[in-house]
Amino acid sequence: MVFSYGRVFTAACALMGTAAAVTPLEVNGKDFVNSKTGDRFQIIGVDYQPGGQSAFTSKKDPLSQPAACYRDAALMQRLGVNTIRVYNLEPSLDHDECASIFNAAGIYMILDVNSPYSTGSLNRAKPWTSYNSGYYEQVFGVIEAFKSFDNVLGFFAGNEVINEDAVYSTPAYVRAVVRDMKEYIAKQADRSIPVGYSAADIRDILMDTATYFECNLKNSTSSRADFFGLNSYSWCGDASYKSSGYDVLTEDFSNATLPVFFSEYGCNEVKPRTFTEVQALYGEDMTQAFSGGLVYEWTEEDNKYGLVNVNNTDTITTLIDYDNLQKQFNKIDMDRIQSSNKSQTSIDPPTCAASLITSGDFYNSWDLPATPSKVSDYIKNGLPDANKGKVVTVSSTAIPQKVYDYTGKEITGVSYKVLAGDETAGPGSSSNSSSTTSSSSGSSSTTSNPASMNNAPMALGGVASIFMLVASLL
Ligand SMILES: *[C@@H]1O[C@H](CO)[C@@H](O)[C@H](O)[C@H]1NC(C)=O
Ligand SMILES: *[C@@H]1O[C@H](CO)[C@@H](O)[C@H](O)[C@H]1NC(C)=O
Ligand SMILES: *[C@@H]1O[C@H](CO)[C@@H](O)[C@H](O)[C@H]1NC(C)=O
Ligand SMILES: *[C@@H]1O[C@H](CO)[C@@H](O)[C@H](O)[C@H]1NC(C)=O
Ligand SMILES: *[C@@H]1O[C@H](CO)[C@@H](O)[C@H](O)[C@H]1NC(C)=O
Repeated sequence: MVFSYGRVFTAACALMGTAAAVTPLEVNGKDFVNSKTGDRFQIIGVDYQPGGQSAFTSKKDPLSQPAACYRDAALMQRLGVNTIRVYNLEPSLDHDECASIFNAAGIYMILDVNSPYSTGSLNRAKPWTSYNSGYYEQVFGVIEAFKSFDNVLGFFAGNEVINEDAVYSTPAYVRAVVRDMKEYIAKQADRSIPVGYSAADIRDILMDTATYFECNLKNSTSSRADFFGLNSYSWCGDASYKSSGYDVLTEDFSNATLPVFFSEYGCNEVKPRTFTEVQALYGEDMTQAFSGGLVYEWTEEDNKYGLVNVNNTDTITTLIDYDNLQKQFNKIDMDRIQSSNKSQTSIDPPTCAASLITSGDFYNSWDLPATPSKVSDYIKNGLPDANKGKVVTVSSTAIPQKVYDYTGKEITGVSYKVLAGDETAGPGSSSNSSSTTSSSSGSSSTTSNPASMNNAPMALGGVASIFMLVASLL
């Protein structure tokens, strides 16, 4: 209904150069760059999984609830975020309004194609049992739902699939998923949307994992990953560049030939979080190696990593971590991190060879599994009966929900802003809302924390493993 109108309208606007939409990004060497201006793009992001894992059902996922998307996009613009990562998506739902909301807000999206359903992800212990057309209905379904949105920065083919519980050949299956996704996008989408992998910070195999996806395979060029995400919780409290091991990561990735970023960061062992790592991540030492990162995570859940607390559908509270993060984001030198550097963009990946793999336990062959024939048909002809997403028009609007800060003061004037075409959200760029002095009374509404399965946070590294258990597989 509205959708076709929205598409025509948007197409017309695009011709006039006034569409309220971001400019698509592309990969150039180890940088994400703006496809029009060539400016380098660094991710200033948050991980978006409101309600936790258990909120995902066939009727509801994070991008199918527009009222929450308007509210969250407004508060993210205010925070200074330019990218979200969304984990569990159900392809059959209507995502058009939420995707359009973030698009017009100047916020990019990195989308995981896997879901918690049993056929929705690769089984790391027996990948050959799940590498089939049923799995690809999920994977290609997510691509169909989002491929027409300019603010899709990329898709994650997998999250922490390769770990101590994975079998020896699992990397080859994940690389095959990257290949199949890229071939699907090449045939079925209007632009070349990047595909990458998100790794757990398991130092023993981290560099082998990166190398495995990064190297160039002469007989399967499409299987090379376009970017590499790392879930890293090694900076806790007031750590330093050295004590956190960030210096080692920077050195390790200094010769990377694809964009590398923290797909999750924000250790919460010391509270409140002050996010001093932001100055390191976007500082001079690290920006040559890293393209920014995404803080885990937007909403407060049982595992206590939230920046905001959704009290109920009418009320939301920005936590002290939100304010602390905003202060850090506001100190980022945007001009410096956006400037491009020829030696970053004119680099060639190494050719895959067993000698590149350093650990004897890591798979050192690239004999990828053949694409199942039904999956090849999908690639050639498109996924049958796919729910194809379409841009719809959205407008700037005040946020109807009550917003409080962590001290209980009401924040007034929070509004969702449609940016001018080609504009991107970012630190200090928007929202002029302020805290009033009126205190929020001992309100009668009860706090209902969204249910979550993301259980207790654990020692370093544990977060990653739990997350992997919950999010990437069963
Ligand atoms: C990066 O490349 C330089 C120059 O080839 C080399 O000296 C250095 O050891 C490499 N660093 C890593 C971590 O591989
Ligand atoms: C450009 O990138 C190279 C390699 O990452 C780095 O050594 C150099 O300092 C950078 N130059 C500038 C001007 O940032
Ligand atoms: C492609 O090349 C890799 C690396 O040389 C090799 O392991 C693999 O068997 C080759 N695959 C095919 C189908 O030839
Ligand atoms: C923000 O609000 C203040 C006070 O209402 C106003 O003076 C200022 O012009 C506003 N700034 C912007 C950028 O809208
Ligand atoms: C909302 O949640 C915050 C943070 O948990 C809490 O401090 C506040 O009292 C809650 N407000 C309401 C109205 O329930």
